[in-house]
Amino acid sequence: MDLITLKDWTSEELQATLDEAMDVKDHPDLYRQSLVGQSLGMLFQKTSTRTRTSFEVGMTQLGGHAVYLDWRSTNFTLADIGDEAQVLSRYVDGIVARMMRHDDLLDLASGSEVPVINGCCDRYHPCQAVGDLLTIREVAGKLDGAHLVYAGIRNNVCNSLIAACIKTGVRITVVAPEVNPASDDPELMEAARESGLFAETLDLVAAAAAADFLYTDTWIDMEFFEDDSFREERERRIAAFTPYQINESLLEKSDAYVMHCLPAHKGYEVTAGVMASERSIVIDQAENRLHAQKAILMRSMGA
Ligand code: CP
Ligand code: NVA
Repeated sequence: MDLITLKDWTSEELQATLDEAMDVKDHPDLYRQSLVGQSLGMLFQKTSTRTRTSFEVGMTQLGGHAVYLDWRSTNFTLADIGDEAQVLSRYVDGIVARMMRHDDLLDLASGSEVPVINGCCDRYHPCQAVGDLLTIREVAGKLDGAHLVYAGIRNNVCNSLIAACIKTGVRITVVAPEVNPASDDPELMEAARESGLFAETLDLVAAAAAADFLYTDTWIDMEFFEDDSFREERERRIAAFTPYQINESLLEKSDAYVMHCLPAHKGYEVTAGVMASERSIVIDQAENRLHAQKAILMRSMGA
């Protein structure tokens, strides 16, 4: 079973994965043999700390093996993505791919003969959202009725949070003056608006005051942050989004816990003080990527 976007998963599949993730976290020893003899190919076009490490370690903890492939050192650079993916899939039992472009991920998945998991493309970051829901469930005690407010640019992380929340009874309010052009997904937005769980506003203070969880992410995707050709757009976005920063003054008007997928750009979407404060749960959130992805691997690879 692929995980390209959570739009493709039913509520029951997502809830069952979260139940399993919680059990994996509580009883890791019960799962030491779950993927014994299985191999995961990990193809990355972009940099990563959390996704790469948590998948690789997760496979080890499940008794399996992971093969990391840096895109630039493979012959994916020379050949058709689907053809190379088909070959890769004859060696491994599942593939995690972090691709720049969603369409390239779809080409890879259509060539692969084994399940493909999206390790973050320009449109979705589903594994992040599963880990985030696990965190919300742990902190709030349940998902149903929790209220998440996302502030910043509507991007891959935001899309996956919307898809995850509307399938699990989490209310989600998005405070985003703009959508990242590569992330636009009118079909998702329509489903969100029909769900009764979704709201949009530009009043960050009012939204934060009503939030249980306050989430932000970078205004500029990782591959562009230090790209000189993006400098003008970077400066424009910094000016446009600075009013939506999660800072100490905002937290004085809110009781919410602060979440961030990381890496954070301190001083931009969130201040260093907020990151270090007792309200920040970002490190537990990052840890939960490991437990969530072990459950995703078992579901995808048929353990
Ligand atoms: N949040 C996240 O996916 O982090 P990495 O880019 O470090 O994998
Ligand atoms: N929106 C961010 C997520 C990083 C995990 C990016 O795409 O760079």
